[in-house]
Amino acid sequence: MTRGLFISFEGIDGAGKSTHIEGLAELFRAQGRQVALTREPGGTPLSEKLRALVLHDAMDPLTEALLMFAARQEHIVQVIVPALARGDVVLCDRFTDATFAYQGGGRGFDWPMLETLEQLVQHRTGQTHLLQPDLTIWFDLPPSVAAERLVQARVPDKFEAQPVAFFEQVRNGYARRCAQYPARFAQINANQAREAVWLEVETAVLNLLAARQVQGLSS
Ligand code: TMP
Repeated sequence: MTRGLFISFEGIDGAGKSTHIEGLAELFRAQGRQVALTREPGGTPLSEKLRALVLHDAMDPLTEALLMFAARQEHIVQVIVPALARGDVVLCDRFTDATFAYQGGGRGFDWPMLETLEQLVQHRTGQTHLLQPDLTIWFDLPPSVAAERLVQARVPDKFEAQPVAFFEQVRNGYARRCAQYPARFAQINANQAREAVWLEVETAVLNLLAARQVQGLSS
């Protein structure tokens, strides 16, 4: 049976992830794979309700972090784990790295505390490793460029309305996670033409599939 694949997509608001996630979903479907296209916070009816709260209501930073992980717990149990068990491809628009970047980097929330919550939520019974994406595609670009893109976009939510300095901290948070998990992170230069970004995205996925094949052959 084909093993499931878990790919997450990260970056500051305005990094331009969405079209590439759709593109990858098409690519996998064309190969006959089942694709679970999902997002965080969100992905289940309850998690979507929590999303509406965290994106629009003012709250204490600990409440915000806890709600992100509460939404994630539901999402993992209801959607991600079952999809991976079926052998599907899970394409997740943001996952735990976003919590480290936004709540850790952006809000300055205690990093070890976030790691404790990560252990709690991503631990799986009988497994030594935490549930983590096989590949995390980080769309990286300067916050000033992302801010220009956002100005032309929709009405901003609580995070999108933050100043550029906040997104500098978020970007630092992503950089810290990328340094911590270099094997699963692919840092993409999102400050270039869409076609060039797509090429980098495709290359990251092909590298993952090639690595999977080598592992499959040697195990
Ligand atoms: P989106 O607009 O890309 O769907 O993401 C929703 C917003 O929520 C985005 O501004 C990033 C933020 N966020 C966090 O602050 N912490 C998290 O753990 C996640 C998943 C998202």
